[in-house]
Amino acid sequence: MKIERTIRSIRKIVKQARAKGKSIGLVPTMGALHQGHISLIERAANKTDFVVVTIFVNPTQFGPKEDFNKYPRSIRIDLEACRKAGADVVFIPSVKQMYPQENMTWVNVEKLSQGLCGRFRPGHFRGVATVCAKLFNIVQPDFAFFGQKDAQQVIIIKRMVADLNMPLDIVICPTVREKSGLAKSSRNQYLSPQEKIEAAYLYKSLRKCRQMVGKGIKDVKKIISQMQKIIHFAKSAKIEYIEIVDLKTLEPVKKIDRLVLVALAVRIGGTRLIDNITIDKAR
Ligand code: PAJ
Repeated sequence: MKIERTIRSIRKIVKQARAKGKSIGLVPTMGALHQGHISLIERAANKTDFVVVTIFVNPTQFGPKEDFNKYPRSIRIDLEACRKAGADVVFIPSVKQMYPQENMTWVNVEKLSQGLCGRFRPGHFRGVATVCAKLFNIVQPDFAFFGQKDAQQVIIIKRMVADLNMPLDIVICPTVREKSGLAKSSRNQYLSPQEKIEAAYLYKSLRKCRQMVGKGIKDVKKIISQMQKIIHFAKSAKIEYIEIVDLKTLEPVKKIDRLVLVALAVRIGGTRLIDNITIDKAR
């Protein structure tokens, strides 16, 4: 497995692979890799011939009061995990490589970036879409792999690819969870053991939602109020939002009568966690 740090060198190595007729898979990450990221790399290794993992903590997607500086960084362990999962090359650019001068060109996916996390993290999805567009242009993959864990992110990226005719397919991979149901996240490292137990209520509330819909309950207000009750079993939980939205438009629905995304963001102590499920009314 190779490690590349410059745009020139990653382009060269990808070009060589493509010249051999290999299909290219890209897995963008910010490092501090866990089983969720690993599942994406393994999927990429199954589906494509040449797997590029990127590790870049992207400053433009963090707000001024967010955790850019303290975001967990564990490059040595990450590299070993990439190798084991089947990566061919890991691209680890510096901030200077990715943003050599003041960035003036931004990708803004309107509407889809407004609600859910966008309401609480202004500018976040602009930073995500821009860095993904840059990585797609640098690597020029045939497929890029994203997790359902960040549902709004992948919906935005898919829309960007469609709207801008980018020549790649986005593959969505299921959310990997702890035994407790807690979705794996690099930010789980911030949680104390007690907070980790409390954080499991997030997924419990999503399961409750699925169960209620299974029983024929469609009223969103009713469902969300039950979900709030469950999350408040966690003493340190502060709900940022719980929303049920149309999976395509991300607009809130009143009744579950179509394919919906049930998404939430909750602070457990100082740590902001997100999770989601999709529900098909037929199920
Ligand atoms: P990061 O949080 O490191 O996540 C990288 C990829 O791993 C994303 O596609 C995310 O959805 C996926 N992922 C995270 N936790 C997961 C889990 N428990 N199960 C399955 N997949 C999971 O998301 C980002 O980085 C950045 O915004 C990025 C796209 C790299 C742009 O900077």
